[in-house]
Amino acid sequence: MIRPATIHDVPRIQEIINSHAELGRMLFKNYAQLYEDLRDFVVYEYGDDVVGCCALGIIWADLAEVRSLAVDDNFRGRGIGRRMVEWCVDEARRLQIRRIMSLTYEQAFFAKLGFEVVPKESLPLKVWSDCVRCPKRDGCDEIAMVRELPEVPMAVMPTAPPTPRGVSIPVLEHVED
Ligand SMILES: CC(C)(COP(=O)(O)OP(=O)(O)OC[C@H]1O[C@@H](n2cnc3c(N)ncnc32)[C@H](O)[C@@H]1OP(=O)(O)O)[C@@H](O)C(=O)NCCC(=O)NCCS
Repeated sequence: MIRPATIHDVPRIQEIINSHAELGRMLFKNYAQLYEDLRDFVVYEYGDDVVGCCALGIIWADLAEVRSLAVDDNFRGRGIGRRMVEWCVDEARRLQIRRIMSLTYEQAFFAKLGFEVVPKESLPLKVWSDCVRCPKRDGCDEIAMVRELPEVPMAVMPTAPPTPRGVSIPVLEHVED
């Protein structure tokens, strides 16, 4: 079952996220960050336990971001990640946000859910605000992927300025070990 996260879920959300962060799959989150963004979060409950979490952050009028998507290792491969991304899609639709993005190493997973790889430079500068906390900021190898919701009308609002030339974080080439 997917439900909005509450303050009581924070320790478990942190445990799941940081278990993946230790393996370099995503960024560590501290309590302050989780409290601040808690309203963006849903959790996936299995019995009495929380076994997955996911957040949808709003970047701009036409762009939302799937963030902190993580499933407990013991529960991977059961469709839980898919259901949480589908929740994000429904939520973006409700908010009338036409595009959803993800910065990820899980290209095949997101491709199955209708996301396509896009150049990092095509995303607005605001997307990279977390990079200052990322140990890989000088050699970002995450893949930018976007899913468009054609049924949501284009927002007639100012567009987010593109990333200016000379900003290095989002435009770094893939770095081989
Ligand atoms: C990525 C992650 C969220 C996927 O969650 P999950 O619950 O295991 O995935 P699901 O069971 O919902 O998989 C949905 C589909 O994607 C496929 N899939 C999942 N992970 C995959 C992978 N690494 N490579 C290829 N396909 C994958 C599944 O086989 C399934 O396909 P199907 O519908 O044809 O059967 C989970 O593996 C995870 O927590 N990873 C570590 C953290 C992470 O990388 N988060 C993403 C940050 S953007």
